[in-house]
Amino acid sequence: MNLVRTIAGAREVLAPLRSGSIGLVPTMGALHDGHLALLRAARAGNETVVMSLFVNPAQFADAGDLARYPRDEARDLAVAAEAGVDVVFAPSHDEMYPPGFQTWVDVTEVGSILEGRFRPGHFRGVATVVLKLFSIVRPTRTYFGQKDAQQVEVIRTLIRDLALEVELRVVPTVRDADGLALSSRNARLSPDERRRALALSRALATRDREQALAELAAANGLEIDYLEVADFDPPVLAGAVRVGSTRLIDNVVLEGEAQ
Ligand code: PAJ
Repeated sequence: MNLVRTIAGAREVLAPLRSGSIGLVPTMGALHDGHLALLRAARAGNETVVMSLFVNPAQFADAGDLARYPRDEARDLAVAAEAGVDVVFAPSHDEMYPPGFQTWVDVTEVGSILEGRFRPGHFRGVATVVLKLFSIVRPTRTYFGQKDAQQVEVIRTLIRDLALEVELRVVPTVRDADGLALSSRNARLSPDERRRALALSRALATRDREQALAELAAANGLEIDYLEVADFDPPVLAGAVRVGSTRLIDNVVLEGEAQ
C-alpha cells in the first residue's frame, strides 16, 4: 500500500494506473465496519482503490467537535492495508487549504435543509473537499454510505450540476447487532448513552414519521434536532438526536430495497 501526503505525490502514484478503473473512498478515518463496507465495494469493482484520510475542518461548524474527533492514523492505515487499499491519500491541512484558499462549492438547496439547518456551512465544507479529492484522484467511481443520506444527495447534485465524470456508488448502512448505525462518534457514548441512543434506530425502523416521533418522545435522555421525510433518491425518513454531548444521525430508506 502506498501512503501519499501531497497532491503531487498522489498524481505521481496514480499516473501509471489511469489505464484501469480507480475507485475512491473518501473518509475522515477512525475506520469501522461501515467504512470497510465501502472499501470492500471499491475493491470488488475497481483495479485501483484509493482511500482518502482527512479530517476536514471546513465541515465542522463547532471547533470542539473537530477537536474531539477520534484520530488514530496508524490503526487506520493497518485497516486500509488489510482491506486491500492500494493508495492512501492523507494530506495535511495546508495541502488541502493552502494560505489564501478562497474557493468554495455550495450545493445551495439540498445543503441547507435538515443537517444544513443545524450545521451551517457543513455541506459547503463537504462539497468543496470532495470536489478537490475528485480533482486530485480523478476516480472512475466513488463510494459513499447511505448512513449519511443527505451527504449522498449533496454529492449526487454536485456531480450532476458540474457535469463531473465520476460514477457515484451508494453502500447500505452498516449497523451493530442492536440496530445502532455504526459511526465514529459512537465511541464517545458511555454505556448508558449508547442504550439511550438506540431509540433513534428503533424509532426510524417504524418507517413512519408520526410513530417515530411518538417513540422518541417516550424515550428518555435524548433531544431531537429533527425527524423528517426527505425527498431524496431514494426517499428516506431521517433523524438527528443529541445524547449527552454527542450528536447522532441516522435514516431509513422508504422506497425500493430496504437498507
Ligand atoms: P466519514 O464520516 O469518515 O465517512 C466516510 C464514509 O463512510 C461516508 O460515505 C459515510 O457515509 C460512510 N459511512 C459512515 N458510517 C457508515 C455506516 N454505518 N454504514 C455505511 N457507510 C458508512 O462522511 C465523511 O467521512 C466526510 O464527510 C467525507 C465524505 C470524507 C468528506 O470529508
